Amino acid sequence: MKTDNDLSSNQRIASVMLDDEETCFRQYLSSAEIAAIEHEVAIMESREAAGIEALKVVQQHRGWISDESLVAIAQCLNISSAQLEGVATFYNLIYRQPVGRFVIHLCDSISCHLTGYDEILQAIKGHLGIDYGQTTGDGEFTLLSNACLGNCDKSPAMMINAQHYHSLTPESVIAILNGLSQKVEPQ
Ligand code: FES
Repeated sequence: MKTDNDLSSNQRIASVMLDDEETCFRQYLSSAEIAAIEHEVAIMESREAAGIEALKVVQQHRGWISDESLVAIAQCLNISSAQLEGVATFYNLIYRQPVGRFVIHLCDSISCHLTGYDEILQAIKGHLGIDYGQTTGDGEFTLLSNACLGNCDKSPAMMINAQHYHSLTPESVIAILNGLSQKVEPQ
């Protein structure tokens, strides 16, 4: 079983409104999130420049950036939601829909294509039963494509969460996925 989770579809915030009062984002974001965002703001030239870091902060706490989160972050930074949406859309490590515990970013650029990308993709799809933009029914894995990950000399390559994997074979990929699914979250 799988859940459709097309992260490439148009991302929208149109129907989401938080009150314009400053207290509103303070009610939506936790004090830990606000403190971490303000920390990022303090080391940037402007509140606007902290957009990507603020998105990362909230994603770290909540796993993804909902429309409500985006509006609240924009309020916190005193910028428009549309402006922040542009930042979130540009940066492919910001997830605008729920993702699994492990997010697989499989490189689909030229070096990887020349060294076995297709076999790796088929191995992942076959093993997990999902396609690009989807999450396994148990919420463990989301599969996304990615432009060059910078490991061209050791392609094919992928990244899962922040961890890079290279010189992949269909067998090694499945071993990696099996190892991750057995990983227990720290309490
Ligand atoms: S082309 Fe895949 S890592 Fe560069």
